[in-house]
Amino acid sequence: MAEKNTSLPKGFLFGTSSAAHQVEGENISSDWWHYERIGRLPKSGKCADHFHRFREDFSLAAGCGMDVMRISIEWSRIEPEAGRWDSSAIEHYRSVLVAMRAMGLLRIVTLFHFTLPLWFYRQGGFSRKANIAYFSRFAKFIAHELGDEVDMWVTVNEPEVYAAAGFLQGSRPPFVRNPLHFWSVYRNLLDTHRAAYAAIKEGGSNTPVGVAVSAAYFTSSRRSLSAMAAAAGRQWISGIARTCDFIGLNYYFAYNLAFSLRRGIRIVNRDQPFSDMGYRAYPEGLLRVLRDFSRFGKPLYITENGIANAAEDMRVRFIVEHIEAALSAREQGVDVRGYLYWSLTDTYEWQQGFDLKFGLVEIDYSTLERKPRASYYELKRLIGSKNIH
Ligand code: BGC
Repeated sequence: MAEKNTSLPKGFLFGTSSAAHQVEGENISSDWWHYERIGRLPKSGKCADHFHRFREDFSLAAGCGMDVMRISIEWSRIEPEAGRWDSSAIEHYRSVLVAMRAMGLLRIVTLFHFTLPLWFYRQGGFSRKANIAYFSRFAKFIAHELGDEVDMWVTVNEPEVYAAAGFLQGSRPPFVRNPLHFWSVYRNLLDTHRAAYAAIKEGGSNTPVGVAVSAAYFTSSRRSLSAMAAAAGRQWISGIARTCDFIGLNYYFAYNLAFSLRRGIRIVNRDQPFSDMGYRAYPEGLLRVLRDFSRFGKPLYITENGIANAAEDMRVRFIVEHIEAALSAREQGVDVRGYLYWSLTDTYEWQQGFDLKFGLVEIDYSTLERKPRASYYELKRLIGSKNIH
């Protein structure tokens, strides 16, 4: 491979990212589980059983030479009913965080990654401004209980995706298609971040708090169109940059946009499947997105970048090229401090279930055995060459 010379600079973190509902299994008090049960979404069941096998997963990460892992804490486990805190769930997550530390992994913890306690969801979730107080109470509680074992916090994962999928496209709970609802949820999530930021900092914590936004790259033969899309992509951060100690970017793909009076704005590269998810990879886009977001003057982390590739013939190249793009941005003065691949193991994918294979490690869902893929070993070799120690 031409990329053989990639070496990671000192202080540049490498690791992986995941979310509770996508790996843990039996997340029974959540809104998502409810829709799985009534047949509206694919069933997650035991999932990868990360809930019980987290030590094995962390040791795979550490064994690969990773520095960091991003996980999420499932609110519906901590507070399965309004105001009832489950002490065994808190102890569970304490063991998780301690195990990560013991294996030398830095811990980035997300508080909201798409799933909600069913009780909160039934009260209107983030579509009701008054409900934000429940989330900040949860954030404050978790920071108090577990803050000593967390290295960085992510308050909200991909607010714009959450709002768009659930309230505009109607493809995820609560399956609404209403631009006004979309807009109010989007705005409420801004306040949710601000409130969670304040709640975590209230106890005097110095632990960095940020968000993870979806950061696609937009190209177009019409420059005004791509500039407009990029501005829309930055909009959420613009509203909260002051309350972000860092910005997390989830970068997966580039969209090529076209415009005609007859058909409006269209995505024209949608029909060129590249990954199994149908996304066209474009590492150059990551460089541009990083440069673009550097305007906020905050440290940047690539909190997700990944490829669904069951054939396992594109993954290493995809990762290496994206890391190289991040390192080019660094050379150009962008303060990008780490790269997290999505994901260490195969995951439950929100609308598609288990068919999409993002993992460096395969999960055999019939035995729950972990089988590192070729890309795991190749990355281990590449990481081994970094000049950090
Ligand atoms: C989400 C993940 C998801 C990944 C791949 C990101 O938008 O944060 O939860 O699995 O994309 O679709």
